[in-house]
Amino acid sequence: MVDVILGLQWGDEGKGKIVDYFAKDYQVVARFQGGPNAGHTLYVQDKKLVLHQIPSGIFHPGIVNLIGNGVVLDPVTLKKECDSVTPFGVDLKKNLFVADRTHLILPTHRALDKAAELSKGNQKIGSTLKGIGPAYMDKTGRNGLRVGDLLDKNFTTEYIKLRLKHQRLLDSYGFQEDISAWEEEFFTALEFLRTLNIVNGEYFINEKLQAGQRILAEGAQGSMLDIDFGTFPYVTSSNTVSAGVCNGLGIAPRHIQEVIGITKAYCTRVGGGPFPTELNDATGEELRKIGNEFGATTGRPRRCGWIDLVALRYACMINGVTQVVMTKADVLDSFETLSVCTAYSIKGKETTQMPYQLERSQPVAKLQQFPGWNTGTDQCKTYEALPTTMKQYVHFINDYLNVKVRYISNGPGRDQLVVVPQ
Ligand code: GDP
Ligand code: IMO
Ligand code: MG
Repeated sequence: MVDVILGLQWGDEGKGKIVDYFAKDYQVVARFQGGPNAGHTLYVQDKKLVLHQIPSGIFHPGIVNLIGNGVVLDPVTLKKECDSVTPFGVDLKKNLFVADRTHLILPTHRALDKAAELSKGNQKIGSTLKGIGPAYMDKTGRNGLRVGDLLDKNFTTEYIKLRLKHQRLLDSYGFQEDISAWEEEFFTALEFLRTLNIVNGEYFINEKLQAGQRILAEGAQGSMLDIDFGTFPYVTSSNTVSAGVCNGLGIAPRHIQEVIGITKAYCTRVGGGPFPTELNDATGEELRKIGNEFGATTGRPRRCGWIDLVALRYACMINGVTQVVMTKADVLDSFETLSVCTAYSIKGKETTQMPYQLERSQPVAKLQQFPGWNTGTDQCKTYEALPTTMKQYVHFINDYLNVKVRYISNGPGRDQLVVVPQ
């Protein structure tokens, strides 16, 4: 069977920590979409580590980690990351596998990402500039190069052909940066990639399923950044929702059991695009400071606001979420009053549905207030030990979503996770 852990907001919900926590119950952890735009933070031996390409199960010696075909892979990032995890005793030969159908991010994809963003001016997406959009465009445009192509003797010829095509596009943007240093490290990283376990991902994972193994699919980004259901065009270029697991790993829908959705107790967004509950004031600043809301990939300050239940319920619907994990509840410890968004007012009309075009709808968030708990919770080990006001806050969200909040995360550490009795 396959369980899924994914983000329900605009990313950075704490997926890395939660995958690392749950990983021990699985034999395989697999990334099914996204690329090095992801930054998943976890703590190993009290050290903070951020993973971009490698699945978050990598620090468990008995677990196999698969980079699935739905991912776009930057060999340079992967090599750096492999170098950073091996001192922790990670055995790459034993624990890391890469699907041969995974598309490669080329240096020119990164350049194209940058050029496209520059050309958009103040309508830019705020992309991570990792080449994600252009790499997925080459996949759907049927031009891209895949990991399996590395084993083909014509790889360099194909690379040069694609590079030339990209160069024409870059010229049309007037992009003039010299990317030869990127190319050099890219080719070095390709040599390294060739030494890793390159497998046929779909047979690999289906054989594990046949053998009765438990698979954990690790989402990147968040549901509101999904290419189809997110706040288009301010989204990423992959299907971040649970449906993406089937395409991104080559497994049938009937294998999927639990869909574990992660939400912060509040909300953040990094990059451009609509954010109805955003707080451009001292409270937002406070959330950023206490929550240390700075991007794990780009270091950019994250935009902060209250939890948006309209967006969250929509995400639960699209994903078929069976249980919710609420992270960063401790960040709210010192707030006098909390708010949750229960509806949008669009041109004077109230709705609890996600509109087609969130940006153009210019919704005003209808907020319901809750008293804060004004007490430290990061040392609480049991649900009983949590303040009543926090329980009321969680219950309200639980009832609104009609999905059980099963865990409350009250700190970044591996052991800071409280089970909610059902
Ligand atoms: P991801 O992309 O969803 O894996 O999330 P990120 O790693 O980008 O961002 C989440 C940040 O919150 C990281 O710095 C985590 O260490 C931290 N974090 C995760 N859970 C908690 C929590 O419950 N409380 C606090 N204070 N920090 C948390
Ligand atoms: P994790 O997995 C938060 C955002 C970017 C930008 C938009 C498009 O750590 O939650 P892209 O580089 O994908 O073309 O950027 O998506 N974005 C993320 N925001 N967390 C992420 O990943 C993100 N990956 C992309 O900021 O707004
Ligand atoms: Mg992140």
